[in-house]
Amino acid sequence: MGDDTVYLNGSFLPLSEARVSVLDRGFIFGDGVYEVIPCYGRRPFRLTEHLARLQRSLDGIRLANPLDSTAWEKLLLELIERSDARDQALYLQVTRGTASREHGFPADTPPTVFAMSNPLHPPPPQLLEQGVAAITLDDIRWRYCHIKAISLLPNVLLRQQALDAGAQEAILLREGIATEGAASNLFLVDEESSVVTPPKDNRLLPGITRDLVVELARDAGLTCLEQEITEARLRHAREIWLTSSTREILPVTRLDGAAVGDGKPGAVWRQVYRHYQQYKQQLRAG
Ligand code: PDD
Repeated sequence: MGDDTVYLNGSFLPLSEARVSVLDRGFIFGDGVYEVIPCYGRRPFRLTEHLARLQRSLDGIRLANPLDSTAWEKLLLELIERSDARDQALYLQVTRGTASREHGFPADTPPTVFAMSNPLHPPPPQLLEQGVAAITLDDIRWRYCHIKAISLLPNVLLRQQALDAGAQEAILLREGIATEGAASNLFLVDEESSVVTPPKDNRLLPGITRDLVVELARDAGLTCLEQEITEARLRHAREIWLTSSTREILPVTRLDGAAVGDGKPGAVWRQVYRHYQQYKQQLRAG
């Protein structure tokens, strides 16, 4: 890796000196977008189209474009100028900037803008003569929600949509089945006072808090079922709870504007919440 000049937040500097905070939302959440633009004989290829796609990507994640087309062009041409290669691949990335770790968008935070240029080599003739091998795979983008991965852009966008609607969390539906929250697991209490949470599979993160809540509910003599929750079942629930390491067990009292049960935290929640607090207390006491 040479020490080429790169662009970061308004400055051109050697790659070895370019630094981004570990709290950058690109690093923490994968909360950003990028482009790769080839250049031939130092001329960008379809620059207008690449910048238009960048704008659509930024619009898609609700991030204001930090530069207009003229400014993008100026900075990219300067990067091309500073590289020795005739053919280059320009890489640019915009993230939602550096802020304390909350899923919702940070207020008044400038985006991080990074760009670099790498030499571009066409595929070697041998590959073109022989062609290449490919395999087919199930398109799992993104059906691996059981992995606690840092690529949380969908979760970030969903949480922000909830916040914009005056709600604290989004409960996610996949093909009519409620899976989990944007950053929490889901429980409900049904007509028979059974506690229900979706079974652990690739559609949700196996929450540590979730497992403890299942344990505590069963220890308290409650029926706790691990079953699929259809949207209709969710809407008819007497109680709905959300669990996570940071939010413990949160009672949901309004869903899409309608009261859940009698619109107040329920009796079953109160009971399990008490056990949860006792569990915490025991930990504190050693
Ligand atoms: N998130 N589901 C998702 C998608 C989550 O991000 C989380 C937690 C949970 C609950 O898991 P646990 O009980 O182990 O915290 C479920 C953390 C708190 C976060 O991203 O801030």
